[in-house]
Amino acid sequence: MKLLEAIENRKSIRKFKPDPLSQVMLEEILQAAIRAPSAINTQPWECWVVGGETIQQLSRELLAEGTKGTPSRADFQLTAIWKDSYMNRMRENGKGLFGLLGIERQDKEKRKAFSLSMHKFFDAPQVIFLCLDSSLGDYSLFDCGCFAQNICLLATSRGLGTCIQHSGVHYPDIIRKYVPIPVEKKILVAISIGYPDKQAIINQFRSNRESLEKVVHWKNLT
Ligand SMILES: Cc1cc2nc3c(=O)[nH]c(=O)nc-3n(C[C@H](O)[C@H](O)[C@H](O)COP(=O)(O)O)c2cc1C
Repeated sequence: MKLLEAIENRKSIRKFKPDPLSQVMLEEILQAAIRAPSAINTQPWECWVVGGETIQQLSRELLAEGTKGTPSRADFQLTAIWKDSYMNRMRENGKGLFGLLGIERQDKEKRKAFSLSMHKFFDAPQVIFLCLDSSLGDYSLFDCGCFAQNICLLATSRGLGTCIQHSGVHYPDIIRKYVPIPVEKKILVAISIGYPDKQAIINQFRSNRESLEKVVHWKNLT
């Protein structure tokens, strides 16, 4: 698959088939993904790849914690206050997603059920927990983003699906009960990975993007 095609085709997948990927396939993806650039070649990414019974048990416990309504105690937080422009994009995205699923604005139960499904990684057979050392600064987060995008594009090019999730790492202490991630390795995101369930309506969703004029500013180009 050509690069542009992979970029165009990549989207967040929110329902997976149960079939696990082979270790060889995951290794090939990760081996290529580590060619990502990083500040002064520090390569701050570290990941734990989890599947099988472990991801199932972990998912059950994360789901139980989420169902109680326990606030996130993640190693990283989204901002508490969103400026209007960001809030509007979020709302528009939610509207599109819930609209496709036929979930009304007032249907709190179904909206909650959707949110809770994130805690079980949308039933992905395997999950990559992307971590970085707590000593590192902001640019290392940027580096991890480059690495994560590589994973997602490489997965897309092989017909696989991914969903980067902050919701999957709300309770790092629970993750560490099942996966030996040291406390000094902060858990940035979970990347759910697997074969997309092509029958699932949710996987038909395609998110919008702002027009280029809104996000690119030109000054004296030539
Ligand atoms: C850092 C980060 C965290 C995300 N967390 C979640 C999440 O918790 N749940 C979810 O469904 N999608 C999550 N996403 C996926 C975004 O919602 C998605 O990338 C965005 O809406 C654009 O859609 P697309 O990926 O289909 O192009 C996350 C993406 C990123 C980069």
